[in-house]
Amino acid sequence: MKVKLYATVDPGLEHVVLEELAEIAPLERAVVAPGRLYFTAPLELLPKIITWSRTVNKLYLVLSEEEASNLEDIYRAVKNTPIEQYLEPNQSFAVRASRLGEHSFTSIDIARVAGQAVIDRFLSLGLPRPPVNLDNPDVEIACELRYSHLIVSLNLTRESLHKRGYRIYNHVAALKTTIAAAMLRLARFRPEHVLLDPMCGGGTIVTEAGLIRKNIPPVLYGRYLELRLRKITSLRSLWEAIAEEVDRAKERVLGKISSEKKSICMDISPKHLEGAILNARSAGVDDTVRFVVGDAKRIDQYVGDVPDVVVTNPPYGHRMHRHRLDELYYHFLTSLSKLGRGIVAVFITSAVDVAERVLENTDVELLKRIYVLHGTLPSYIYVVRT
Ligand SMILES: C[S@@+](CC[C@H](N)C(=O)[O-])C[C@H]1O[C@@H](n2cnc3c(N)ncnc32)[C@H](O)[C@@H]1O
Repeated sequence: MKVKLYATVDPGLEHVVLEELAEIAPLERAVVAPGRLYFTAPLELLPKIITWSRTVNKLYLVLSEEEASNLEDIYRAVKNTPIEQYLEPNQSFAVRASRLGEHSFTSIDIARVAGQAVIDRFLSLGLPRPPVNLDNPDVEIACELRYSHLIVSLNLTRESLHKRGYRIYNHVAALKTTIAAAMLRLARFRPEHVLLDPMCGGGTIVTEAGLIRKNIPPVLYGRYLELRLRKITSLRSLWEAIAEEVDRAKERVLGKISSEKKSICMDISPKHLEGAILNARSAGVDDTVRFVVGDAKRIDQYVGDVPDVVVTNPPYGHRMHRHRLDELYYHFLTSLSKLGRGIVAVFITSAVDVAERVLENTDVELLKRIYVLHGTLPSYIYVVRT
């Protein structure tokens, strides 16, 4: 059976996510919207998408779609949605509502009316009244009103998949894991590549690369795995079909299958580097990384191997003066060029003025520039070649 789904993604990276998803499952009717991907895929591949996507934030199963212009329409639409297929009578639920456009009511009103419609549907079918639990529901129903288009869906991932569960050292300016994974895709990173992150902070980029090298699904860690999909009883058998695959990946984490240290994680701060070691170890991929205290302004003096790809997240300048940032970006790119020509480097920054000035004054080739939101911070991802 084919089902309609939508994924929330980091704005700006929709096409990168689409490319990844199309490698995991055959997608049909994909539509790209800001921060969103709508598509149709085989139902039985849902766990595979949730397990293996490194770039999706949340995934939703669309239950119904209708035009709705007032609260009565919304009540009717939700009451006609067969939610009992996914919510057992003794399970708790919550409605999360959102809206886009001008309406005479709030999203709290939508949640209230939709919640009542769910309860009324159960009662009218002769089923026990399902309990509401707003803090920790078994099943989360999303009601989204985009202008007059209502989408009722089931949150399949609960918390955002970017919360991997391996991060134990929180760098003050940590990069979102899903963006790190998308940047690795933009760099065309392959498991056999030598990767350099010369300003690695807490090591998010090399840790994500380590997961790819060891073929470890990013949902593996901590309590997050337990939350995914299992609560939705009618989909549990789908999850069990992939559980064995996930268990085998667990062995790869615990059982340190030999892998060469092909990622270089460099930072000027020993403290951050200690944190990066903790994070990579917690993810079971520290055996794929060489950690180096060093200065990104003189990469050629610290790094012997010529990297195949460079992916990095330099400081944005909240704590640094503009001219110091210019200097850092300039020497990062020129010392990288000294290592070799033809190296692809991908970096993300919100210091766009600095990046643009420096790119004008160096002979690295600008291949692509992508506007993205890093959380709420407007940034650009630059893809360049030395
Ligand atoms: C935005 S943070 C990187 C965060 C990292 N991507 C993460 O997810 O944790 C930038 C890092 O660059 C480092 N840095 C600043 N100047 C540097 C230099 N000259 N050489 C190497 N690292 C530097 C800082 O210590 C900081 O950890």
